[in-house]
Amino acid sequence: MQKQKQYENLLKDAQALVDHSLGYISNMANLAALIHHAFDHHWTGFYIVKGDFLELGPFQGPVACSRIALGNGVCGTAWEKAKTQIVEDVNEFPGHIACSPLSKSEIVVPHFRNHQVFSVLDIDSADYGTFNRIDQKYLEQIINLL
Ligand code: SME
Repeated sequence: MQKQKQYENLLKDAQALVDHSLGYISNMANLAALIHHAFDHHWTGFYIVKGDFLELGPFQGPVACSRIALGNGVCGTAWEKAKTQIVEDVNEFPGHIACSPLSKSEIVVPHFRNHQVFSVLDIDSADYGTFNRIDQKYLEQIINLL
C-alpha cells in the first residue's frame, strides 16, 4: 500500500482512538502503538518536556535514553527549533543520540500546547531515508489530535 493511503487510514484510526476524557499519557501510549505497528518501525515514542529536559514518555520498541537536554540530538533540536526534523541518515546529524545502533533514519515531530512544545514524537527506522514530507504532513496532523 502507498504511504499516503496508509496514513489516510492511520489518521482515521487515530481520530477514533484519541479520547480526551483520558489523560495525555494514555493517548500518547495508544498513538505510539498505532503508528509503530502500522509501519513496523524500529522505535516510536514520545519525549515530554519537563523543565530543561525531555523525559521519556510512552513508547514502543527497545529501551531508550530517558532524558535529553534542550538542543541535544534530533529530539532536543526539534524541541529547541519547534520544528519537525527529518534525518535521512542519523550518522550525518551532528550530535545524534544513538539509543540503538540499528537506527538509521529518524523523524521528530513537535507537539504543541498553548503555542509551546509540550512533547515530541520520535520515530526511528532501521533503514536509511525512510521519512519524507508525507510522514511530516500526516504525523503533524496526528500529533494535533492529542
Ligand atoms: N535519536 C534520538 C534519541 C532518542 S532515541 O532515538 C529513541 C535523538 O538523537 O534525539
